Amino acid sequence: MKSRVIFVGVGGATCSGKTTLAKHLRSILPGSVIVHQDDFAPPQELIPIHPVYNVQDWDSAEGAIDWPRMITTLAEVKRTGVIPPEHYSHDHLNEQKDVSIDKDVAQRWKDTFTRIQKEHEKAGEHIIWVLVDGFLLYWHPEVVDQLDIRIFLRVPHDVLKQRRHERHGYHTAVQSDPEGTLWRDPPHYWEQIVWPAYVAAHARMVESADVEHGPPNGVVPGLVLIEALEMQMTDIVQRVCARLLEEA
Ligand SMILES: Nc1ncnc2c1ncn2[C@@H]1O[C@H](COP(=O)(O)OP(=O)(O)OP(=O)(O)O)[C@@H](O)[C@H]1O
Ligand SMILES: [Mg+2]
Repeated sequence: MKSRVIFVGVGGATCSGKTTLAKHLRSILPGSVIVHQDDFAPPQELIPIHPVYNVQDWDSAEGAIDWPRMITTLAEVKRTGVIPPEHYSHDHLNEQKDVSIDKDVAQRWKDTFTRIQKEHEKAGEHIIWVLVDGFLLYWHPEVVDQLDIRIFLRVPHDVLKQRRHERHGYHTAVQSDPEGTLWRDPPHYWEQIVWPAYVAAHARMVESADVEHGPPNGVVPGLVLIEALEMQMTDIVQRVCARLLEEA
Protein backbone atom coordinates (compact mmCIF):
# COMPACT_ATOMS: atom_id res chain seq x y z
CA MET A 1 0.00 0.00 0.00
CA LYS A 2 1.35 3.43 -0.82
CA SER A 3 1.15 6.32 1.63
CA ARG A 4 -0.06 9.79 0.86
CA VAL A 5 1.21 12.32 3.38
CA ILE A 6 -0.87 15.51 3.57
CA PHE A 7 0.62 18.50 5.40
CA VAL A 8 -1.92 20.77 7.05
CA GLY A 9 -0.44 24.11 8.14
CA VAL A 10 -2.06 25.57 11.25
CA GLY A 11 -0.55 29.04 11.47
CA GLY A 12 -1.26 32.19 13.42
CA ALA A 13 0.20 34.47 16.05
CA THR A 14 1.25 33.29 19.47
CA CYS A 15 -1.83 32.38 21.52
CA SER A 16 -4.14 32.40 18.50
CA GLY A 17 -5.26 28.84 19.34
CA LYS A 18 -3.09 26.83 16.91
CA THR A 19 -2.11 24.05 19.28
CA THR A 20 -5.66 23.79 20.62
CA LEU A 21 -7.00 23.43 17.07
CA ALA A 22 -4.24 21.03 16.00
CA LYS A 23 -5.00 18.73 18.95
CA HIS A 24 -8.72 18.66 18.15
CA LEU A 25 -7.86 17.77 14.55
CA ARG A 26 -5.45 15.07 15.70
CA SER A 27 -8.20 13.38 17.67
CA ILE A 28 -10.53 13.53 14.65
CA LEU A 29 -8.16 12.42 11.89
CA PRO A 30 -7.22 8.73 12.06
CA GLY A 31 -3.47 8.17 12.25
CA SER A 32 -2.56 11.86 12.31
CA VAL A 33 0.45 13.46 13.96
CA ILE A 34 1.40 17.01 14.97
CA VAL A 35 4.68 18.71 14.20
CA HIS A 36 5.20 21.77 16.42
CA GLN A 37 7.31 24.51 14.88
CA ASP A 38 8.36 25.64 18.37
CA ASP A 39 10.48 22.48 18.54
CA PHE A 40 12.66 23.87 15.75
CA ALA A 41 13.69 26.90 17.76
CA PRO A 42 17.46 26.99 18.29
CA PRO A 43 18.65 26.16 21.81
CA GLN A 44 18.44 29.09 24.19
CA GLU A 45 22.20 29.69 24.02
CA LEU A 46 21.91 30.49 20.30
CA ILE A 47 18.86 32.77 20.38
CA PRO A 48 19.88 36.22 19.08
CA ILE A 49 19.93 39.25 21.37
CA HIS A 50 17.75 42.11 20.15
CA PRO A 51 20.09 44.98 19.16
CA VAL A 52 17.93 47.72 20.68
CA TYR A 53 16.22 46.14 23.69
CA ASN A 54 19.07 43.83 24.64
CA VAL A 55 16.85 40.83 25.42
CA GLN A 56 16.77 37.44 23.72
CA ASP A 57 14.54 37.60 20.68
CA TRP A 58 12.60 34.33 20.31
CA ASP A 59 10.20 35.81 17.78
CA SER A 60 11.85 37.52 14.80
CA ALA A 61 11.58 35.09 11.92
CA GLU A 62 15.23 35.03 10.83
CA GLY A 63 16.59 33.85 14.16
CA ALA A 64 13.62 32.24 15.90
CA ILE A 65 13.63 29.00 13.90
CA ASP A 66 16.41 26.74 12.69
CA TRP A 67 14.99 26.86 9.17
CA PRO A 68 17.28 24.27 7.53
CA ARG A 69 16.47 21.77 10.30
CA MET A 70 12.74 22.39 9.98
CA ILE A 71 12.78 22.06 6.18
CA THR A 72 14.86 18.87 6.28
CA THR A 73 12.67 17.30 8.95
CA LEU A 74 9.46 18.17 7.10
CA ALA A 75 10.90 16.67 3.92
CA GLU A 76 11.69 13.47 5.81
CA VAL A 77 8.19 13.33 7.33
CA LYS A 78 6.73 13.82 3.87
CA ARG A 79 8.82 10.96 2.52
CA THR A 80 8.37 8.49 5.38
CA GLY A 81 5.06 9.51 6.99
CA VAL A 82 6.62 9.36 10.47
CA ILE A 83 8.31 11.88 12.73
CA PRO A 84 11.98 10.92 12.98
CA PRO A 85 12.73 9.29 16.36
CA GLU A 86 15.52 11.78 17.16
CA HIS A 87 13.11 14.71 16.89
CA TYR A 88 12.43 15.86 20.44
CA SER A 89 9.30 17.82 21.36
CA HIS A 90 8.81 20.04 24.39
CA ASP A 91 5.09 20.34 23.78
CA HIS A 92 4.07 17.88 26.50
CA LEU A 93 5.74 20.14 29.08
CA ASN A 94 3.64 23.18 28.16
CA GLU A 95 0.37 23.78 29.98
CA GLN A 96 -2.67 23.52 27.72
CA LYS A 97 -6.02 24.87 28.86
CA ASP A 98 -8.98 23.00 27.51
CA VAL A 99 -11.18 24.71 24.90
CA SER A 100 -13.68 21.97 24.27
CA ILE A 101 -15.75 21.34 21.17
CA ASP A 102 -19.12 19.72 20.61
CA LYS A 103 -18.61 15.97 21.05
CA ASP A 104 -21.22 14.98 18.46
CA VAL A 105 -19.66 17.20 15.85
CA ALA A 106 -16.22 15.77 16.57
CA GLN A 107 -17.56 12.21 16.39
CA ARG A 108 -19.29 12.86 13.04
CA TRP A 109 -16.07 14.15 11.50
CA LYS A 110 -14.14 11.27 12.99
CA ASP A 111 -16.56 8.83 11.38
CA THR A 112 -16.32 10.66 8.08
CA PHE A 113 -12.52 10.58 7.98
CA THR A 114 -12.42 6.96 9.12
CA ARG A 115 -14.74 6.05 6.25
CA ILE A 116 -12.62 8.06 3.78
CA GLN A 117 -9.50 6.30 5.04
CA LYS A 118 -11.11 2.90 4.45
CA GLU A 119 -12.20 3.85 0.96
CA HIS A 120 -8.70 5.01 0.09
CA GLU A 121 -7.17 1.87 1.56
CA LYS A 122 -9.38 -0.27 -0.66
CA ALA A 123 -7.86 1.64 -3.56
CA GLY A 124 -4.35 0.96 -2.22
CA GLU A 125 -3.62 4.33 -0.61
CA HIS A 126 -3.10 5.14 3.06
CA ILE A 127 -3.58 8.79 4.05
CA ILE A 128 -1.34 10.27 6.75
CA TRP A 129 -2.33 13.69 8.03
CA VAL A 130 0.50 15.79 9.41
CA LEU A 131 -0.65 18.87 11.31
CA VAL A 132 2.08 21.50 11.26
CA ASP A 133 1.45 23.93 14.12
CA GLY A 134 3.50 27.11 13.88
CA PHE A 135 3.69 30.84 14.61
CA LEU A 136 5.94 31.43 11.58
CA LEU A 137 4.49 29.03 9.01
CA TYR A 138 4.07 31.38 6.10
CA TRP A 139 7.35 33.28 6.20
CA HIS A 140 9.85 30.92 4.61
CA PRO A 141 8.94 30.16 0.98
CA GLU A 142 10.26 26.60 1.20
CA VAL A 143 8.06 25.86 4.21
CA VAL A 144 5.06 27.43 2.48
CA ASP A 145 5.75 25.15 -0.49
CA GLN A 146 5.86 22.05 1.71
CA LEU A 147 2.36 22.65 3.11
CA ASP A 148 -0.58 21.19 1.19
CA ILE A 149 -3.24 23.11 3.14
CA ARG A 150 -2.62 26.53 4.68
CA ILE A 151 -4.83 27.56 7.57
CA PHE A 152 -4.29 30.86 9.39
CA LEU A 153 -5.97 31.80 12.66
CA ARG A 154 -6.36 35.54 13.14
CA VAL A 155 -7.15 36.94 16.57
CA PRO A 156 -7.18 40.66 17.51
CA HIS A 157 -4.06 42.14 19.09
CA ASP A 158 -5.54 42.87 22.53
CA VAL A 159 -6.83 39.32 22.95
CA LEU A 160 -3.48 37.83 21.97
CA LYS A 161 -1.68 40.12 24.38
CA GLN A 162 -3.98 39.17 27.23
CA ARG A 163 -3.70 35.43 26.53
CA ARG A 164 0.06 35.66 26.34
CA HIS A 165 0.11 37.54 29.64
CA GLU A 166 -1.87 34.70 31.23
CA ARG A 167 0.53 32.01 30.07
CA HIS A 168 3.02 30.86 32.64
CA GLY A 169 5.81 30.45 30.13
CA TYR A 170 7.26 28.25 27.41
CA HIS A 171 9.47 25.22 27.68
CA THR A 172 12.33 25.62 25.25
CA ALA A 173 15.47 23.79 24.26
CA VAL A 174 18.79 24.31 26.00
CA GLN A 175 22.03 22.80 24.68
CA SER A 176 23.18 21.87 28.15
CA ASP A 177 19.91 20.25 29.27
CA PRO A 178 17.67 17.97 27.16
CA GLU A 179 14.67 18.74 29.36
CA GLY A 180 15.03 22.39 28.43
CA THR A 181 14.14 25.43 30.44
CA LEU A 182 11.12 27.60 31.11
CA TRP A 183 11.07 30.94 29.30
CA ARG A 184 9.03 33.74 30.83
CA ASP A 185 8.52 37.02 29.00
CA PRO A 186 10.53 39.87 30.51
CA PRO A 187 8.75 43.26 30.97
CA HIS A 188 7.64 44.94 27.71
CA TYR A 189 8.50 41.80 25.72
CA TRP A 190 5.12 41.86 23.99
CA GLU A 191 5.35 45.44 22.68
CA GLN A 192 9.06 45.39 21.97
CA ILE A 193 9.54 41.93 20.50
CA VAL A 194 6.52 39.66 19.99
CA TRP A 195 4.10 41.98 18.22
CA PRO A 196 6.61 43.77 15.92
CA ALA A 197 8.04 40.38 14.91
CA TYR A 198 4.55 39.07 14.14
CA VAL A 199 3.73 42.13 12.02
CA ALA A 200 7.05 41.91 10.17
CA ALA A 201 6.55 38.23 9.35
CA HIS A 202 2.92 38.48 8.23
CA ALA A 203 2.50 41.91 6.58
CA ARG A 204 3.47 40.56 3.17
CA MET A 205 0.62 38.06 2.97
CA VAL A 206 -2.31 40.45 3.53
CA GLU A 207 -3.62 43.47 1.67
CA SER A 208 -2.21 46.87 2.67
CA ALA A 209 0.15 45.03 5.04
CA ASP A 210 -2.74 45.21 7.51
CA VAL A 211 -2.23 42.13 9.68
CA GLU A 212 -5.28 42.94 11.80
CA HIS A 213 -7.86 43.37 9.04
CA GLY A 214 -6.36 42.87 5.58
CA PRO A 215 -7.69 39.96 3.49
CA PRO A 216 -5.13 37.51 2.08
CA ASN A 217 -3.41 38.97 -0.99
CA GLY A 218 -2.41 35.73 -2.71
CA VAL A 219 1.26 35.83 -1.70
CA VAL A 220 0.60 32.64 0.28
CA PRO A 221 -1.38 30.58 -2.25
CA GLY A 222 -4.67 29.13 -1.04
CA LEU A 223 -4.45 30.71 2.42
CA VAL A 224 -7.57 29.96 4.49
CA LEU A 225 -7.82 32.90 6.89
CA ILE A 226 -10.09 32.27 9.88
CA GLU A 227 -11.17 35.11 12.15
CA ALA A 228 -10.83 32.86 15.17
CA LEU A 229 -12.38 35.12 17.79
CA GLU A 230 -15.59 35.43 15.79
CA MET A 231 -16.18 31.69 15.79
CA GLN A 232 -16.59 28.94 18.35
CA MET A 233 -13.81 26.33 18.37
CA THR A 234 -16.41 23.80 17.18
CA ASP A 235 -17.07 25.91 14.08
CA ILE A 236 -13.38 26.42 13.41
CA VAL A 237 -12.90 22.64 13.52
CA GLN A 238 -15.87 22.21 11.15
CA ARG A 239 -14.50 24.76 8.72
CA VAL A 240 -11.08 23.14 8.64
CA CYS A 241 -12.49 19.61 8.37
CA ALA A 242 -14.59 20.64 5.39
CA ARG A 243 -11.41 21.87 3.68
CA LEU A 244 -9.55 18.65 4.56
CA LEU A 245 -12.37 16.59 3.14
CA GLU A 246 -11.99 18.39 -0.21
CA GLU A 247 -8.28 17.61 -0.15
CA ALA A 248 -8.78 13.94 0.63
N1 LIG B 1 -11.32 29.89 20.79
C1 LIG B 1 -10.78 30.14 21.99
N2 LIG B 1 -11.53 30.65 22.98
C2 LIG B 1 -10.99 30.91 24.18
N3 LIG B 1 -9.71 30.69 24.51
C3 LIG B 1 -8.93 30.18 23.56
C4 LIG B 1 -9.41 29.89 22.25
N4 LIG B 1 -8.42 29.39 21.53
C5 LIG B 1 -7.35 29.38 22.34
N5 LIG B 1 -7.65 29.86 23.55
C6 LIG B 1 -6.74 29.97 24.70
O1 LIG B 1 -5.63 30.75 24.30
C7 LIG B 1 -4.45 30.21 24.85
C8 LIG B 1 -3.49 29.87 23.74
O2 LIG B 1 -4.00 28.77 22.99
P1 LIG B 1 -3.01 27.79 22.23
O3 LIG B 1 -1.98 27.28 23.16
O4 LIG B 1 -3.82 26.83 21.47
O5 LIG B 1 -2.36 28.86 21.23
P2 LIG B 1 -1.11 28.77 20.28
O6 LIG B 1 -1.49 29.53 19.07
O7 LIG B 1 -0.68 27.36 20.13
O8 LIG B 1 -0.03 29.60 21.09
P3 LIG B 1 1.59 29.50 21.05
O9 LIG B 1 2.04 29.92 19.70
O10 LIG B 1 2.00 30.50 22.04
O11 LIG B 1 1.94 28.08 21.33
C9 LIG B 1 -4.84 29.00 25.68
O12 LIG B 1 -4.97 29.39 27.01
C10 LIG B 1 -6.17 28.62 25.09
O13 LIG B 1 -6.97 27.96 26.02
MG1 LIG C 1 1.10 26.41 20.64
